[in-house]
Amino acid sequence: MRPADLTRFKQSGRPITVLTAWDSLSASLVQEAGADVVLVGDSLAMVVLGHATTLPVTLEQMLLHSQAVCRGFQGPIADQPLVIVDLPFLSYQCGVDRAVAAAGTLLKESGAAGVKLEGAEPEVLTVIDRLVRMGIPVMGHLGLTPQAVHRLGYRRQALDPQSQDKLKRQALELQAMGCFSVVLEHIPAELAAELRQLLAIPVIGIGAGEGCDGQVRVTADLLGLTPQQPPFSPALIPGRQLCVDALKGWVSQQRRPGASPTSTPTPPAPDC
Ligand code: KIV
Repeated sequence: MRPADLTRFKQSGRPITVLTAWDSLSASLVQEAGADVVLVGDSLAMVVLGHATTLPVTLEQMLLHSQAVCRGFQGPIADQPLVIVDLPFLSYQCGVDRAVAAAGTLLKESGAAGVKLEGAEPEVLTVIDRLVRMGIPVMGHLGLTPQAVHRLGYRRQALDPQSQDKLKRQALELQAMGCFSVVLEHIPAELAAELRQLLAIPVIGIGAGEGCDGQVRVTADLLGLTPQQPPFSPALIPGRQLCVDALKGWVSQQRRPGASPTSTPTPPAPDC
């Protein structure tokens, strides 16, 4: 899988599937499920590291988790999903050189094939232009951009005609800068469907309706594991409840009077 394959999928009308992973275990699940792309999203700041927003996760942590994800895949590299990693907050907002170093490190030291970054402000476009010219594939991200939570909140975006025009302009700019695809998060379905027609690059939606070229989901949300489910990403199974019930069953079984310990007692230390 290469980023350009996603454009082929769009052209042939084959829906694109993107799932997040944050460690070897989740990566192996997502690979077995057959996802085309594995996103090491900065949502891991909230899902795995317990932060309230995506802002605190560092480049070092993103690298560590990306390496773990890439170690989780089985089989020949040709059968493995495409890995894209989120550039974390402040790794691309402080100058183009720092951004190239950050993205280059992620590609160089994990098996990732590209990076995703949020927004399309002029400074971000400059960064994207340089990354693409340096051979680093870039996925864009518009609409609800969680790194801008303090400006935008977690609300649905692009609700009035003015902001819809702005988002369309920005999506076209991302395409012109060489992004190989764009994520549209929590925007009206009609707008996402219109952008799918407007753009030659694949439009990947989350909370953006069914009219996109593909869909991305946070795997922990789909599995019902996250304590706070986003309203636009319903769970497929009550995973958290299933896990807690199974573990509760084990705990209460262990506490039953007369229950025999399941683990082997530690043998006494040998005399030296
Ligand atoms: O960080 C993430 O998981 C993401 C997806 C929600 C698209 O950016």
